[in-house]
Amino acid sequence: MDSILVTGGTALHGEIPIAGAKNACLTLMPATLLSEDPITLTNAPRLSDIKTMGTLLESLGTEVTSMQDGKVLTMSSHNLTNLTADYDIVRKMRASILVLGPMLARAGQAIASLPGGCAIGARPVDLHLKAMEALGAQIELRDGYVHAKAPQGLKGATIEFPFVSVGATENALLAATLARGTTILKQAAREPEIVDLAECLIAMGAQIDGHGTSTITIQGVDRLHGVTHPVVTDRIELGTYMLAPAVTGGEVECIGGKIELIEAFCEKLDAAGLSVEQTQRGLKVKRTNGDIKAINVTTEPFPGFPTDLQAQMMALLCTANGTSVLEEKIFENRFMHAPELARMGAQIEVNGGMATVTGVERLKGAPVMATDLRASVSLILAGLAAEGETLVNRVYHLDRGYERVEEKLGNCGAKIERIKGQ
Ligand code: EPU
Repeated sequence: MDSILVTGGTALHGEIPIAGAKNACLTLMPATLLSEDPITLTNAPRLSDIKTMGTLLESLGTEVTSMQDGKVLTMSSHNLTNLTADYDIVRKMRASILVLGPMLARAGQAIASLPGGCAIGARPVDLHLKAMEALGAQIELRDGYVHAKAPQGLKGATIEFPFVSVGATENALLAATLARGTTILKQAAREPEIVDLAECLIAMGAQIDGHGTSTITIQGVDRLHGVTHPVVTDRIELGTYMLAPAVTGGEVECIGGKIELIEAFCEKLDAAGLSVEQTQRGLKVKRTNGDIKAINVTTEPFPGFPTDLQAQMMALLCTANGTSVLEEKIFENRFMHAPELARMGAQIEVNGGMATVTGVERLKGAPVMATDLRASVSLILAGLAAEGETLVNRVYHLDRGYERVEEKLGNCGAKIERIKGQ
């Protein structure tokens, strides 16, 4: 297993290109199952999770072609030869459940392994299944698999989610495009990835209205055609790299960054005393002098502060002047980075969904363990700020969501290298 060695203490200067969004690409790729025509995604991120989704689609009969070193993906699902998403793939990546809705809509049946538990929370898929039932599917759970059937096809319905779920909104949106009649999704997720998915589906011929608000209306159509669609910028990669000069000092321009993708986060950077500027090419973050101010952060669905940036924000607040409180409201177990940060000298007290961080003067490098994707990158950020060397182990988590981290940070002057595992 590879690890990453970071030697802290260098201010960062330069620019970092931001890739297409992993979480948008993971919901755009299953859209191929809805059409007999090929769909092409440009600006795809080069990540192991994207490869896993490609492997899953191939197992269903999709032809997946990757060009430009993985930045362009063409998927052709002319014939679906298999309607089972197997446990061996689903267990590697929970987003695999997003093939359920499109398979059901196109073929009238689908079998998908249940994803099981996850490091950051229980993460059930009950809302996905209830949405499919509302659209007329019969669902049975057997042997760890969801068996879904809609012999007469799916039928439009009004679905009111009890709380916001990104994945359930995506699955329902994908399925409803080919359902007979009108579907209304209430308390739908409003994330930029949902908007990107809706725009891609509209370009394929779907009739969708209200995406980006909490009520989405879908008028089912008989067929969807092919499309070429650019994947929206990864707002989480963007926020992560905006934090790099914030922890080390310096100035970094994140190319492709747009404030509207990440406004709540930018407001917090501003409150912490950092300068954020929208430029022609992206978002520029500068830390000149002075301390980082302690701030309070609560994670919420979009447009609130994203849970996927909570760990990275904590890395910054470890050396803020004063006491910050971070409240995690999306996942019940998403503070596993806290004890690792504590190994580097951070003072963090976790109480349920609340973490109190009392700033210390400086973190100290230490060997640490990555426990999930965002936790791993928070440890890299902490390592960049720390005195001495930090060895981040188990970085396969990182490779799921960040492409070429060493290169992107290294180009701005960071001392960071990958140590290949045996
Ligand atoms: N939930 C249920 N039942 C469901 C679905 C969700 O109880 O059927 C709960 C979850 O357990 C969680 C909350 O609802 O407590 C919100 O989960 P949501 O469904 O919104 O999350 P997701 O679709 O599973 C996506 C991202 C996550 C991101 C969350 C929240 C993808 C592939 N994943 O997950 O990304 O944290 O939305 O924004 O889009 C990451 O990239 O590191 C990551 C974890």
